[in-house]
Amino acid sequence: MVAATTQAQTVLRPPLVGLASDWRQQLPELTGTSSTLRELRLSDAPALLTTMTSEDVARFISTPPTSVDGFERFITWARHQRGAGRYACFAVVPHGLTAPVGLFQLRRMDDDTATGEWGFALGQPYWGQGYFIDAARLVLAFAFDEMGLRRLEARSAVANGRGNGALRKVGAVHEGVLRRAFRKDGQRLDQSMWSILADDWRAAEAVQWPALVH
Ligand SMILES: CC(C)(COP(=O)(O)OP(=O)(O)OC[C@H]1O[C@@H](n2cnc3c(N)ncnc32)[C@H](O)[C@@H]1OP(=O)(O)O)[C@@H](O)C(=O)NCCC(=O)NCCS
Repeated sequence: MVAATTQAQTVLRPPLVGLASDWRQQLPELTGTSSTLRELRLSDAPALLTTMTSEDVARFISTPPTSVDGFERFITWARHQRGAGRYACFAVVPHGLTAPVGLFQLRRMDDDTATGEWGFALGQPYWGQGYFIDAARLVLAFAFDEMGLRRLEARSAVANGRGNGALRKVGAVHEGVLRRAFRKDGQRLDQSMWSILADDWRAAEAVQWPALVH
């Protein structure tokens, strides 16, 4: 296990300017170098269906809805959960586009320890181009500074090289393997458990992120 502050290529936390006074009413728009993160809209459903159900993207994530209706129900659910203060789901919209090409989800799991979980997916054409790290830094700042989380967990199938590589890149610490913890297409897969602590994130403020390639 490597300490987050040495492993992290974290940064200058981005200032989250222009936040809504209460994210439970409406998620703020978070502006990054290559994309904007915003609340999901019902009109995003067709784009999400195309992006999230492609084989590459869906391979290691919980099976997404399989229809526009299904995504509309998911979006309605997400907004309801946000209103209850339990969940935030950001659409990733690259600058110059209006439809989302990915999602970042945050779920508050335990109030005592202020523990949450995050998950993310981007359309395959947007992999390896800096969109992930750009959005991740905004989402992490939101999770720790706005949602008040102290510990953020992520689970990623051990076989998901990109997912694990992405988590390592943002300074997540590998805590171990959850054996056969993830059921996917009739198989039970081992999952890596990763965490980022708010304290580590804040301490890493001065460490540099990789260049944002776009
Ligand atoms: C996870 C995801 C959002 C990451 O976005 P991305 O643009 O692919 O991520 P990046 O390219 O910035 O970072 C991935 C890192 O993993 C590395 N990587 C790729 N394949 C790898 C492998 N097989 N083993 C180890 N590392 C690997 C990449 O080299 C990169 O590191 P680098 O930038 O230092 O070279 C995207 O791949 C995705 O949507 N995947 C499908 C959904 C998914 O699996 N979500 C994660 C669930 S936890």
